Formats: sequence, structure tokens, C-alpha cells
Amino acid sequence: MNTKYITTPIYYANGSPHIGHFLTTTVTDALARFYRKSLGDDNVFFTTGLDEHGTTVEQSAIKEGFAPADFQQYVNKRASEWQKAFDSTAISYDYFVRTTNTTHKKFAQDFIQKLVDAGDVYKATYTGKYCNGCEKFLTLSDQTANGFCPLHREDQVVELQEENYFFRLAKYAPKIRALLDSNTIKISPEAKKTEMLARLTDVADLSISRPIEKVGWGVLFPGDDKQTVYVWVEALINYLSSLEIAGKPELWESAVHLVGKDINWFHNVIWPAFLLSAGYAPHKESFVHSFLTVSGQKISKSLGNTITPDELVQNYGIDGARYLTLKNLPYKDDADITWDVLDETYNADLANGLGNTVARLTKLAQTSGFDFDLPHPTAELWHAAWVHPIAEYRLDLVLYNIWAQLAELDKHINEHTPWALTDPITLREILEYELGELLKIAVSVEPFLPNTSQKIQAVLTERRIVATSGLFPRIQR
Ligand code: MSP
Repeated sequence: MNTKYITTPIYYANGSPHIGHFLTTTVTDALARFYRKSLGDDNVFFTTGLDEHGTTVEQSAIKEGFAPADFQQYVNKRASEWQKAFDSTAISYDYFVRTTNTTHKKFAQDFIQKLVDAGDVYKATYTGKYCNGCEKFLTLSDQTANGFCPLHREDQVVELQEENYFFRLAKYAPKIRALLDSNTIKISPEAKKTEMLARLTDVADLSISRPIEKVGWGVLFPGDDKQTVYVWVEALINYLSSLEIAGKPELWESAVHLVGKDINWFHNVIWPAFLLSAGYAPHKESFVHSFLTVSGQKISKSLGNTITPDELVQNYGIDGARYLTLKNLPYKDDADITWDVLDETYNADLANGLGNTVARLTKLAQTSGFDFDLPHPTAELWHAAWVHPIAEYRLDLVLYNIWAQLAELDKHINEHTPWALTDPITLREILEYELGELLKIAVSVEPFLPNTSQKIQAVLTERRIVATSGLFPRIQR
């Protein structure tokens, strides 16, 4: 059975979603929508959700005035916020992950017990640095020259000396190398695989627990009520527990993890090592994208340059927000965006582009007074054209290609001037061709701009085509 299980990372429940989270989620959503068309709804399973345990969550709950006994209320509040943000941007997830789910917690403990039973866990003292922002122990290569974290504030980095359980990650390094080398786990783009292979030459064992007095908001380590499971370990296990909760464990064989470059190592080295130790097959694929920066800087609350999904929707509508985010996909390198450039792209590609072509052609169709019966293009028609870039996760290229077709269509309209044609036979012929091309474009953009696509398809499949304007109102600031 050809299936796809596609996942986003589960985001820390310590703040609100921004365009970086929205990017990964929208890419995954577009792929899910694409695969539902080609494989059938039941053969695709798409998860996103929240990572609700650990220090970052504890710290922000406390900052917002929640006592430890009320942390659950805090994450409930965050979960409804994120769910609302994703629901209002047409994210078609099949399951919204929450790691405070009871089945997940039990599943995580059982999974760790499997690592213990495999002889891959031992107790030792950890000495070193921990970044509370990344929720990870910093190796020397993770640290800046001054011994801090390149991604988080200096006060987020703490010196630790504590008893932890360790996982024998080093033992698995050669196996993981082989899996990546042979593309048994296929990482796209290639450069992100090369990075992992280089780091795999020097691998230390991994601490997988924290003393309960340091991190109380977590899942208890099996067989030890003084330690909680390291939040990253528990979070990764969501990819299996979600299938368990949904009653679809057989989908595991087609798992694809979409992640940002910051968590490549966790997903493509640590996670498969756990899977092998616990007796599971590794995931199949992973797309590791780079980062969006805003006005040349990393996205940060303290810099005040955060762009939220809500703000995007207010400015550009749901499909506008999705289009602009996907168009700026930082495929290999980081990509920078500014509000000015987003406005310009919106006006060029959506207001003057797709929106204008729809308005022009539907008006011509209505004025002609003809009845139309356009052949409806099936998914297979365009699937063949996009399947390669989709397999490479080049959603930006797919959009580029569709917009090139739109430009061809505009050229055709300008050259054949249907508004000036007087012979009804020629006019019908030209309009049928051009409306047919527009319908193909509308079908093609469905995974990316689902609402707009459906609106255009609804208009063009009526016998009497009605003039339709205002899909993307022009922005003037
Ligand atoms: N909770 C962990 C993930 C556990 S998955 C088992 C975590 N959460 S996070 O909230 O920090 O989200 C990280 C992910 O958000 C990144 O991997 C990436 O997918 C996305 N992004 C966060 N900032 C981003 C940008 N500035 N640009 C693009 N994506 C970004 O890590």
C-alpha cells in the first residue's frame, strides 16, 4: 500500500506561533494535500502539534504566573492558541499532537524501557553546559567562542553537574552513518545529509534524563521516580505515539519528518538510533529546510521582528499568507523577508497576477453570453508535472512553474485580444482555451491555495461563468 505519514516538529508550548513555525507547517500541509490527491485521503496522515514538557515550558508558565500545579492549564491555553492559528490558516492536520496526552506519556515510558531492555542505557554523571532555550546539552562545537549558545540569550546557558541516564548513541553512530549514506533514510537537500555525516565522525553518548528537582514538568523515567525523561527524547517519541493514538501504526513504514536545520541532528541521528535500539525501522525520509530571517535578523521576540500567522492573514488573507510563506521557502540557504517585499510579491503575483487574470477572463466569459462546459482536469493531469519537484520538496519551484503558466496565459490573452473579437466562433474557441488553461492552473494550486483554488474551480465549472473579482485586493500603503 502506498501511504505517506508526514509530520512537522512539535513546537514548544512556551510561546506563540511565528512565521518560522508556520513555514514548516504550511510546507507539510501542502504536501499532505498533494498526496491526498494522488494516494487517497485514507492513505495520508499528517500530524503537527505541541511539545508541552520541559524547562522552556516550565519557565514561560512561571513567567505568566502559573504555579506548578497549574502547568497543565498553561499548556491547554497554548494548545488552543496554536490550534486556532493552524485552523485559521487552512492547516489540514489529521491529528494535533499534545505530549501531555496520557497515552503518549505511557507510550514514551514503554519506549524508553525498550532502550533499557536492549542494554543501551546506563547511569553516569553529566558535567557540562546546557542551553535551556534549545533544551539540549551543548557540545563544544555547539558553543560560541565564549561558551554560549549561538541561538539563545547568555542566561539561557547553565553549567550542569548531575546524575543522568545515558543512551549509548556512540555505539549506533556507524549504523546511522550507513543508513544516511545509503539513503535508507533519505535526507533532502543533500547538503543537510553531508552535514550529519561529517558530525557523525565524533559522537558522544546522550543524556536522556534530568533530575526531577531540576525538571519536574515531564514524564517519569521508567523505574526511577527521581528522574524525568529528557524532553527531547519524549518529544521524538510523539511520531510513534501519535500513530498509536490514531490506531494507524502500519503507517510508520512511510514516515517523513519535516524539520528546520536546527533540529536535523535530533531527527536524523538521535531518533533513528533510538528506533533501532527499540526494535523499530528507521523513518524513511526527512526534509531539512533552512531558516527564514526577517529584515536580515533572526526572528526574535526581543528584537520585535516577529511575524505571526495572524498578521499575515490580516494583511494577505489565508491563501495570501500561505503563498508568500511557501514562495519564500528557505530551501538550502536561509531566506530573508521584509514586509515591503511581501507586499510587493503579493501585489505582483496575487493581486495583479492570479486575481487579475481570473477577473479579466471571467468578465470576458460573462460578457460573451456563452454557455460553457469546460473539461475538468483531473489530478493526474498535473500530478505528472509536479511530482519530481514535490519529491524533492521544492514547493517554491512548483509555485514558480505554475506562475510561469499563468504568465503564458496572460500573454495568450494579450495576443489574442478576446475583448476585440467579433466572430463568435473564434471568440468561443479562444475563450474556451483560455478558461481551460485557467482551470488547470486553479486545480494545480489547490494544495497551496486551497480556498482560492476551490472558488475559481466553482466559478469555471458553471455553465454560465460569472465575473469574479476581488480574490486578492491590491495592497496600497
Ligand atoms: N520542540 C522542539 C521540536 C521537537 S520535534 C520532536 C522544537 N520546537 S520549536 O518550537 O523550537 O520549533 C522548531 C522548529 O520551528 C524548527 O525546526 C523549524 O521547523 C521551525 N522554525 C523555528 N524558527 C524558524 C525560522 N526562523 N525559520 C524557519 N523555520 C523555523 O525545536
